[in-house]
Amino acid sequence: MTRSPHISASILNADFGRLTAEVARAADGGVDSIHLDVMDGHFVDNLTMGPVVVGAVRPATDLPFHTHLMISNPLRFAGRFADAGSDLIAFHVEADDDPAAVIAAIEDAGKQPGIALNPETPASAVHPYLDRVAMVLVMTVNPGWGGQQFIGEVVPKIAELRRELDARGRDVPVGVDGGVNLETIGQAHQAGGRVLVTGSALYSTDGDLAPTVASLRAAALGADHASEAQD
Ligand code: DX5
Ligand code: ZN
Repeated sequence: MTRSPHISASILNADFGRLTAEVARAADGGVDSIHLDVMDGHFVDNLTMGPVVVGAVRPATDLPFHTHLMISNPLRFAGRFADAGSDLIAFHVEADDDPAAVIAAIEDAGKQPGIALNPETPASAVHPYLDRVAMVLVMTVNPGWGGQQFIGEVVPKIAELRRELDARGRDVPVGVDGGVNLETIGQAHQAGGRVLVTGSALYSTDGDLAPTVASLRAAALGADHASEAQD
């Protein structure tokens, strides 16, 4: 079964000197959502943006904002990122706060909760939360920076989580985040990844992003078509 790939533009590698225009460029290029990478310099050794930045770029598009919290205390900030304009807020199962409490806080703010897990973290770590989240975000790089290499060893975990969600009758997507590009997007999608986060694969291109977005979609489906052709 080929599920249409959802291309999510990570703005971490966009030009931060004109971020609103960069968000609009991705939206005009036909992506399905904007992925905003929040880092606190503690959970990962990098600092990026706070709620004020999410709010600043919110007017650039009506597309869903997927805010990815790579922070140690998501419970403390979930409400503020919700108020700033996030539609889905993905936090890390490895963070300091109780995941169930973070999910409840995101729901109380009227937003969709997502749960993220690092390459070393087993799928079983998020099993207790699969019945409550709107997305499972599988990291295919160690979080902290854009432009890293896709960690292929993580691909079986994408399939494992897709199977577990299907077994529970949960029609929520698995997201894949990190190093997703024309070379890797096919295996990510074929394994069951539906929300495909692309940062440098998009923003390494100047001007109109529509051709790049179309190529990424085709590459995502290409592997599926190939496998169907073999069936
Ligand atoms: C890494 C971030 C990813 C990353 C995606 O910590 O969560 O969203 O920036 O960028 P690329 O696609 O360049 O790996
Ligand atoms: Zn991310």
